[in-house]
Amino acid sequence: MTTWINRFLFLALAWSFISAVTAFEEHDNHLAVVHIINSLPNNSEPVSVECISRDRKDGPGEYTLKVGEDFQWDVTLNTLYYCTALWGRVFASWHAFQPRRDVSHGKVYWQIRQDGFFLSWDNSSWVKREMWETE
Ligand SMILES: *[C@@H]1O[C@H](CO)[C@@H](O)[C@H](O)[C@H]1NC(C)=O
Ligand SMILES: *[C@@H]1O[C@H](CO)[C@@H](O)[C@H](O)[C@H]1NC(C)=O
Repeated sequence: MTTWINRFLFLALAWSFISAVTAFEEHDNHLAVVHIINSLPNNSEPVSVECISRDRKDGPGEYTLKVGEDFQWDVTLNTLYYCTALWGRVFASWHAFQPRRDVSHGKVYWQIRQDGFFLSWDNSSWVKREMWETE
């Protein structure tokens, strides 16, 4: 009987410890800010974007971005985040945040354009990293 009680107490303690650590990881780290900017041509239909961490524990969820809109969120886990985008009949998926590539910059900007997805760390010089796909 006492063994069971001890085991229960141990598990309860371990659980509260794990919860505290997890809460710290998820809420107290601000590793980077990711911006996703819809730079499609005027009058384009909105883009639906969904972003999530690889372990599916963090992410801003799904957003619909109109032309000119900047959707941003804080990266709180030091892991890969990927996004998928749907624009009419074309779609794309890309790595919005890669720890090794991005964490030292603190800010990650993505421009969604007709000819693809462009990455910048300063919101001024852009490099194309991903294309739209049709199938
Ligand atoms: C797109 O719309 C914005 C705001 O209405 C305007 O400032 C801009 O000149 C337009 N761009 C083009 C290429 O028409
Ligand atoms: C990024 O640059 C654009 C164009 O210069 C500017 O309108 C926008 O406010 C900037 N965004 C941020 C988050 O600095």
